[in-house]
Amino acid sequence: MTAVFERLLAQAMDQWAELHSRPWVRVSTGLMGSAAGANDTLSALRHDIEQSGVKATISEVGTTGLCYAEPLVDVFVPGGPRVLYSNVAVDQVHEIVTRHVQGSVPVKELAFATVDADVVGIPRREDLPMMRNQVRIALRNAGEIDPISIHQYIARGGFAGLDKALDSMEPKEVVQEVRDSGLRGRGGAAFSTGTKWSFLSGNPSDTKYILCNCEEGDPGAFNDKTILETDPFTLIEGCIIAGYATGASNGIVFIRHGHDAPIDRTRAAIKACYANGVLGSCVMGTDFSFEMEVSLVGESYVAGEETALMEAIEGKRSMPRFRPPFPAAYGVWGKPSNINNIKTLSYVPEIIRRGAAWFTSIGTEKSAGTAIACLSGDIRYAGLVEVPFGLTMRQIVEEMGGGDPNGKALKFLQTGGPLGGLLPADDLDMVLDFDAMVAAGAMFGSGGLIVCNETRSVVDLTRTLVAFDQMESCGKCFPCRLGTSHLLELLDRFCDGQARENDLELMARVGVNMRVGSLCGHGQLGYNPVESAFKYFGDEFRAQMSGHGPIPIAPFVGPIVTRRGAQIEGDTPTSVVKADFVVKLEPAVANGVSHQNEEVS
Ligand SMILES: Cc1cc2nc3c(=O)[nH]c(=O)nc-3n(C[C@H](O)[C@H](O)[C@H](O)COP(=O)(O)O)c2cc1C
Ligand code: SF4
Repeated sequence: MTAVFERLLAQAMDQWAELHSRPWVRVSTGLMGSAAGANDTLSALRHDIEQSGVKATISEVGTTGLCYAEPLVDVFVPGGPRVLYSNVAVDQVHEIVTRHVQGSVPVKELAFATVDADVVGIPRREDLPMMRNQVRIALRNAGEIDPISIHQYIARGGFAGLDKALDSMEPKEVVQEVRDSGLRGRGGAAFSTGTKWSFLSGNPSDTKYILCNCEEGDPGAFNDKTILETDPFTLIEGCIIAGYATGASNGIVFIRHGHDAPIDRTRAAIKACYANGVLGSCVMGTDFSFEMEVSLVGESYVAGEETALMEAIEGKRSMPRFRPPFPAAYGVWGKPSNINNIKTLSYVPEIIRRGAAWFTSIGTEKSAGTAIACLSGDIRYAGLVEVPFGLTMRQIVEEMGGGDPNGKALKFLQTGGPLGGLLPADDLDMVLDFDAMVAAGAMFGSGGLIVCNETRSVVDLTRTLVAFDQMESCGKCFPCRLGTSHLLELLDRFCDGQARENDLELMARVGVNMRVGSLCGHGQLGYNPVESAFKYFGDEFRAQMSGHGPIPIAPFVGPIVTRRGAQIEGDTPTSVVKADFVVKLEPAVANGVSHQNEEVS
């Protein structure tokens, strides 16, 4: 153990013990909590606890993933059970403070769950449907620690992996350990992380970069931002280990602007690392030095593509570069670079601390470890779950997610974001596995799982996804720039009941051109949603051919809404939307590119 880590660990354990010697109230004020009113709940708690005279610690934490239960308040009083209260409104705060924080007796009628304790009449957190199958690695500290307290992170095993790597492993052994763990990138392509690192480690340059990708513009995905707002240290530790393993000198965390909690908390955590000798020159007293910073970028989905991200960091328009050269040879500022997703790097500390064999013991043979799925749409328990690969979709959606809140039948899942696909309800017994999902035409991508019940129109959702892809196309190459516009125009015809006999074939021809001719994954994968929808729900498209009238549809209540001025009557499949398809003719202002909606014939 390095002397610096030994000292930090001793301080951390002292602080952890002190924290548990008085009441500790944790409020989740991340993205989901704030949206549900957690900041008001927090203010009321602060006020009431101050009035009560109790000497308690109040911490803001990130989401636990149980987003449907936000605002979530977590109360620990020494000698008693730790109790969670869900959906805490301001007018419930006084009761909780008076009876539990001050009086040490849990408020049973408001309690949601206990943590590591049995109390008659209150379920244990691990027995909640949404928690039952979870194995938490990247989310191990979610809701447990103050995201910007380095000592709380260390008290729960943090930086032990980095210390082990620096103290007892050669860089190439670290690369091999990550390779042996079977860790595959969680940003979409599922490429072997250890193999990718070996490309950079083989480059002799003395300035090399580790880029951490938190663009996360996919509708339906919110797990990268959640990691940064709940536990930025796990990403930072993973990034430093990647730097040590590959001989890199700098790390940049790249976050879409406007997401204040992930940005502020990551910056604060980096600052704490510098203050404690974990970043900067001579990391933990060794001869390895590593610098880290946060870089912001504007709103552009394509900026998440690895070479577009480099352009954005350099202050240019986020348009993908031609490859080769590949990033490990010519990356940001022309220097060798490695890019990983936030989730990917967040697994690394535990892989190094507990060993590759531990990680491969979780999940399936080809998809090791866990997946973090974002559940949204027609689902009772919306939020984040971290589950081992190998569970079935049914276990995730029906058992953990609780199915449709109104008991309607499930029709399909939309997976993998706007470049992903559909999985019909009949295939719910499919196991969660990178390769199985790709084979089914529904890649796991960045983890978005949008659940759609029997009232949802496949044609309409497909059009919505393609509208997103068209609007986000950076316009650099014409197969994508024109292809997405043409697909959208054709899908408009289907939605309007005006599609012609050869329109399906035309879409397939456009899609093939996009796939083979586009410069980056955006265009190459942009036909996926259409192909997958047609594969499973072809009859719905055929029913929209000319002469069948406009599309019968219920309003889509999900994270993507592109219709403006839609007139909706009721919420049954017989409702009719007279839509104003605004996206079709709007220029892609975000990218400064004007799309031509040429007539397709
Ligand atoms: C259009 C487009 C958008 C992308 N957006 C993201 C993103 O937001 N986050 C991400 O990690 N990867 C994104 N990727 C994938 C990255 O190019 C890259 O493969 C990934 O960051 C590598 O990390 P990994 O190996 O850890 O998965 C995107 C790819 C494309 C084609
Ligand atoms: S495929 Fe699309 S997003 Fe990618 S470079 Fe071409 S136009 Fe831009």
